[in-house]
Amino acid sequence: MISRSRENFSELTDNDLLSQLDHSVLPHHVAIIMDGNGRWASHRGLPRIAGHKEGLIALREVVNTFSDLGVPLLTVYAFSQENWKRPKAEIALLMMLLEEFLDQERHTFHERKIRFLPIGQIHTLPPSTQKQVQAVADETRHFTDRTLTVALSYGGRCEIVDAVNDLIEDVQRGNVSGPITESLFEQYLTTAALPDPDLLIRTSGEARISNFLLWQIAYTELYFTNTPWPDFRRRDTLVALLNYQKRERRFGRLSSTLSHQNGL
Ligand code: FPP
Repeated sequence: MISRSRENFSELTDNDLLSQLDHSVLPHHVAIIMDGNGRWASHRGLPRIAGHKEGLIALREVVNTFSDLGVPLLTVYAFSQENWKRPKAEIALLMMLLEEFLDQERHTFHERKIRFLPIGQIHTLPPSTQKQVQAVADETRHFTDRTLTVALSYGGRCEIVDAVNDLIEDVQRGNVSGPITESLFEQYLTTAALPDPDLLIRTSGEARISNFLLWQIAYTELYFTNTPWPDFRRRDTLVALLNYQKRERRFGRLSSTLSHQNGL
């Protein structure tokens, strides 16, 4: 189901939305494709970087909202492998923003006990960015209640191919023997420590996955909204969660209603 948000909720206040939320069935893991920073900026006659800066403000608010609600796992697509094809100046500014974000959010991660977990080809980032990413990952590694996974220089197909190569190496060394099962294979993915996302949000009107968490989203609920990422805030997060709570997740099984009707 493709969802277009807001319409049904426009007359409700944030508190109304919050009171409609069933806290007992919140998703455990939410993934987000944060899209639309550039378009947000160009609609305002601003440089693209202004959209990325506003996008960081949105990211802070969304991280805090999920943390307040008690959603333990949030995974965001911050920089894809394809993003390396952007102009060098934009890439440099994005890396600078990432470093600034980590510097400023360090204390929030400690206060809120959030583990910062980078995934992707971290070794391809500029050295100062790698250093900062590694430092914040190391110092928050012991937090177990909440995890903010940030995909950097990440591509889902590349992650799967890397996993296959690592697995072959382990088989050749005699550390692993067949048959290769799904659960064994998953241990070779960068998300090995995480359960699959329950909900994937993509902002800014595009309804595609763009090489994000390809293996992991097999049964994930997809939510697409026209709201550009810089405008996606607490309210939009609540709307997405309410929409998610209307879904019936069957994982390929029949729903109880269908089973009943069919006399099964
Ligand atoms: C998409 O906007 C967004 C990104 C390229 C990545 C998300 C980046 C941020 C939230 C800000 C920087 C944060 C970090 C952590 C690096 P777009 O530029 O593709 O927008 P467009 O599709 O409208 O051009």
